[in-house]
Amino acid sequence: MSDRLHTLSGYLYEYQKSIAQPEEFWARIADSFYWRKRWDKVLQWNFEEPDVRWFLNGKLNLTENIFEKNLYTLGERPAIIWEPNEPTEPSRTLTYRQLFEEVCRFSHALQSKGIGKGDRVIIYMPMVPEAAVAMLACARIGAIHSVVFAGFSSTSLADRILDCKAKAIVTADGNYRGNKQVPVKAIVDEALEKTSVETVIVYRRTGQEISMVSGRDCWWHDLIQGKPSAHKAEEMDSEDMLFILYTSGSTGKPKGVVHTTGGYMVYTKYSFENVFQYTPGDVYWCTADIGWVTGHSYMVYGPLLAGATTLLFEGIPTYPHAGRFWEIIDKHKVNIFYTAPTAIRALQAFGTGPIEGHDLSSLKVLGSVGEPINEEAWHWYHTHIGKGKCPIVDTWWQTETGGILISPLAGITPTKPAYATLPLPGIQLCIVDAKGKELTGNSVEGNLCITFPWPSMIRTTYGDHERCRQTYFSTYKNKYFTGDGVKRDHDGYYRILGRVDDVINVSGHRMGTAEVENAINEHPKVIESAVVGYPHEIKGQGIYAFVICDQSTPNESSLVQEIKETVASIIGPIAKPDKIQLVPGLPKTRSGKIMRRILRKIAEGSLDAMGDTSTLLDPEVVGKIIDGRK
Ligand code: WTA
Repeated sequence: MSDRLHTLSGYLYEYQKSIAQPEEFWARIADSFYWRKRWDKVLQWNFEEPDVRWFLNGKLNLTENIFEKNLYTLGERPAIIWEPNEPTEPSRTLTYRQLFEEVCRFSHALQSKGIGKGDRVIIYMPMVPEAAVAMLACARIGAIHSVVFAGFSSTSLADRILDCKAKAIVTADGNYRGNKQVPVKAIVDEALEKTSVETVIVYRRTGQEISMVSGRDCWWHDLIQGKPSAHKAEEMDSEDMLFILYTSGSTGKPKGVVHTTGGYMVYTKYSFENVFQYTPGDVYWCTADIGWVTGHSYMVYGPLLAGATTLLFEGIPTYPHAGRFWEIIDKHKVNIFYTAPTAIRALQAFGTGPIEGHDLSSLKVLGSVGEPINEEAWHWYHTHIGKGKCPIVDTWWQTETGGILISPLAGITPTKPAYATLPLPGIQLCIVDAKGKELTGNSVEGNLCITFPWPSMIRTTYGDHERCRQTYFSTYKNKYFTGDGVKRDHDGYYRILGRVDDVINVSGHRMGTAEVENAINEHPKVIESAVVGYPHEIKGQGIYAFVICDQSTPNESSLVQEIKETVASIIGPIAKPDKIQLVPGLPKTRSGKIMRRILRKIAEGSLDAMGDTSTLLDPEVVGKIIDGRK
């Protein structure tokens, strides 16, 4: 635990060291891991191409740093506590030893299906411990996992299967979500009508009726039958791919963000221990889904590398009642709780009644992630959940950053509501204006960039390196551009203001406006559409779609419903527009570009100050849209 920071002055000192001598700094942190062969060189990089490599020629297996390194001391400690959707169903606990044995069996299972180093495996699963087992088994045999959120549609799943040329899918028969039962395997079958994989491994969760294709599909429990509970891990290079995770951007289809082994391992453990001030024995609960990056870095990898007990919850915050989270904290004596502002706001709406009767005194640290947390939600969380005594870590990061980059260290960094506060050691931030000029000093606002590599940063976008360069490294020379707006206040504290590109953040889920538009346009009656985000009380941002339909539209409300369903079936229910307004035209410049600034104002309801509309091809259309909204 020598890498744990304990005081503010200690943090400031380490931060300075990490900037002055980054290689020495990260080498020291990395030295506490088990490497089969130590690296030759700590870092090699340029942001032009980009080409970033950490711990060059280091050989390791990440899972040996979870298991072999710790089994003697941690073997009997709970690794995963699983809480099912139904409170009446018993929870499950897997100790480090049991988890290790499961991972070993499943590693053999994958290999018995001919899956090995470098093969891509899609994991499309409910929130059950086996989802983590599948990820870790891939890491153990050197296969590259790509977890797809089980709420995505068959089309989204098929896109990802095709993009990464997956060899196998690990899935389940079904998924319990609140009072719903999602037919997971049926969705996989549908996706496989458009694509093909050699192997589908099905974990039995709900027991619902499913079809199994012989030669392709097999049951998880049959496959692990008789497999040994020990397994020799594959030797990986530090820069071998660990996983691909698809995420939305401003343009085109979701891209496969690639993370590699050594740097990701070092950074997720280091940041986990420091941000949450994890102490051995703590029970830690992150409510994210395994399909998002938070579910990778801070539900599975970071906590398990640190030897923590990580809680996995299958269900949703409001089922069977709005006190479900608080009931679970009480039941498992959770010490560290990490959730999203959207969940806090949703639960806040039920008042403090559902908290009553649940003992939350085990809590020491609260975390927030995924979107800006508004001050009201921050205070509610602090007062009613943390009882005024738990520091809140507002953690800013991205799928591409692999780990938390800006955050208080719990109990160490003085917090300010809605501020992510200060960068972690090793993270060199810079704020630029639209032209790329660096804004120095405090009390400035602009676009957030990072000027120096960190170990868990994105290496490429799978199969399309140019897209990675274009998206993140071409806007500002020699800088990684985050896509977020930020303010640095008079104290030098950072406050994230939200996306400055065409990405909207709905309940902490990233959505590209173009992606939603493309889905809307699939409806046969739709001619064109434009999607913007607008402030939404619970979700942070809601999706507002302006849609031009062909003239033969007898029933508007059923058409709106149909369009929503179209989006749900193409992307997934999370992308359903909250509001759809049928419009006669869209505000476009003479060159045909949609003026989203104007649409955003209309969606927000600020209908007066439209700014300059003189450059529009048809300025009158704005008035018509405003009238339509009223
Ligand atoms: C937003 C989630 C404000 C931000 C880990 C970022 C945040 C995007 C915060 C990445 C925060 C994440 N405060 N905004 N604490 N954390 N964001 O890839 O806009 O799903 O660019 O990663 O979420 O979303 P992603």
